[in-house]
Amino acid sequence: MGSQPKLHILFNRQEIEAAVRRLAAEISQDYHDKYPLLIGILKGSFMFMADLIRHLDFPLEVDFIGLSSYGKGRQTSGKVKVVQDIQSSIKDREVLVIEDIVDTGLTTAFILDYLRKKKPASLKLCALTDKSSRWQVPVTIDYLGLTVPNKFVVGYGLDLNQKFRNLPDIYFIEDED
Ligand code: IMP
Repeated sequence: MGSQPKLHILFNRQEIEAAVRRLAAEISQDYHDKYPLLIGILKGSFMFMADLIRHLDFPLEVDFIGLSSYGKGRQTSGKVKVVQDIQSSIKDREVLVIEDIVDTGLTTAFILDYLRKKKPASLKLCALTDKSSRWQVPVTIDYLGLTVPNKFVVGYGLDLNQKFRNLPDIYFIEDED
């Protein structure tokens, strides 16, 4: 199993809640009359999606897509594939993708490209967190919650080897020397 990683708090639940409310206000302004389809990227976005849509007081639909991008641990494999597809038709829909974190940007670029081919009326991105210092491809984040430093983060849906998703706050993992 190896030793337990050391976790340090980065954003507490109040800071996350404030960011989620701000994003919800921005999204409400732009989408209240558009009956959007929100597509969450599994698994990391499930908690963010649940909290976000509680603050969206207008008609919308929700779907999820499962992607594999990371290998085990913290290293990206660089290859992205769809392991669980959306159930809805998105042709001519106003689509908003809900991401947990944009790291290198490869996953985000892949998913936007994949969905764009299905001809939605519009396609935008909302990310709870981003590590723009690590981007390998340019990404436009239309709605951004919190910027994280170049560290591996867990909690609030984010995992390390499937652990720590249940933590209500976001932590960074201390680098091992
Ligand atoms: P990207 O393709 O490098 O942008 O990676 C995106 C995906 O990698 C995210 O949706 C996460 O699942 C995972 N990921 C990247 N950085 C972190 C992190 O710091 N903590 C947990 N998961 C991460």
